[in-house]
Amino acid sequence: MPAQIHRGTLANLRRLAGVLRRGGLVAVPTETVYGLAANALDAQACRRIFRAKRRPANDPLIVHVADLRMLRQVAEPNDAVARLARVFWPGPLTLVLARKAAVPPVVTAGLPSVAVRMPAHPLLRRLLRICGLPLAAPSANPFGHVSPTTAAHVQEGLGQTIAHILDGGPCRHGLESTIVDIRDPLRPVLLRPGVITAAQLGRVLGVPVHIATRRVAAGSAGQQSALAPGLLARHYSPRQPLIIHQRITAAMVARRGTDEAWICFRKPAWTGGAKNIFWLSAAGDLREAGRRLFALVHRLDRGGWKRLHAELAPSAGAGHAINDRLRRAAGRRS
Ligand code: TXA
Ligand code: MG
Repeated sequence: MPAQIHRGTLANLRRLAGVLRRGGLVAVPTETVYGLAANALDAQACRRIFRAKRRPANDPLIVHVADLRMLRQVAEPNDAVARLARVFWPGPLTLVLARKAAVPPVVTAGLPSVAVRMPAHPLLRRLLRICGLPLAAPSANPFGHVSPTTAAHVQEGLGQTIAHILDGGPCRHGLESTIVDIRDPLRPVLLRPGVITAAQLGRVLGVPVHIATRRVAAGSAGQQSALAPGLLARHYSPRQPLIIHQRITAAMVARRGTDEAWICFRKPAWTGGAKNIFWLSAAGDLREAGRRLFALVHRLDRGGWKRLHAELAPSAGAGHAINDRLRRAAGRRS
């Protein structure tokens, strides 16, 4: 039976809070992508997340909190948390902090750290407050697939595996949160780019943010996963091969068959109404491009194309995050 899709009425939120309290799973909307949530303090419930997603046990989960009081249940805050929270929370920023003992090791894949985020989506915030529990939630897609930005994407990927999806509409950002390790506030390390950039974080923290470059292979065990588990080289993969280009030109398109689809960053002047040319933002707006990227990849994934091509975004602002996801979808180390 497919999962039930719930609208965000108070009665439904109360029901779903009950599911979470009893150790069940609920797919939830966030402002970044949909997440697959369980009580972060319940090891058994969190194991269900890994099973549903077929996620390797060495890839830790992000814990979502309603407020700083809830954060203190799961992590040791430091000065940097207060400063970043004031500017960026609730919002698309995940902080890696020292973990508290209340968090079962399955959530953090045995690491001494825990990733925490205060999400901005009003339905998830209400759900967090009603159930009063921190919620562990990775993106609500089968492991290695493109993250879902609508309830329909979740249904398509996990509908046969989970029972409940809370529908909060299309996600506002459409790209997963920025992850920064601030256990040492003097040497913050960016583990995953997102719409909040390293430069923005650096300005608030008053120190430069280092960019992690190590990538680890999916499923690699032990020591390696402790370095940067969020940085799997191949991730977000569509079913077809995806090739990335610095620029897509009319001549390139003309050389290939009409069974290959092209994702331009902005609307090209030369489309001529061709059915295999797509763009992320007609006017080249980075925010809009970020919001539409995964939805477009989801759509093209079902389109029966032989091959997908995508053009890199300008490397500014959210462009870094877009290009990071494109390179990973192409299986490239970058
Ligand atoms: O926007 C988001 O962050 C979404 C929504 C649902 O909140 N969540 C998300 O979760 O993208 P997920 O599991 O797909 O990606 C989280 C990444 C993982 O790759 C994981 O390795 C990394 O965060 N991570 C989690 N805990 C960590 C830790 N203690 N240290 C370093 N990386 C960690
Ligand atoms: Mg994910």
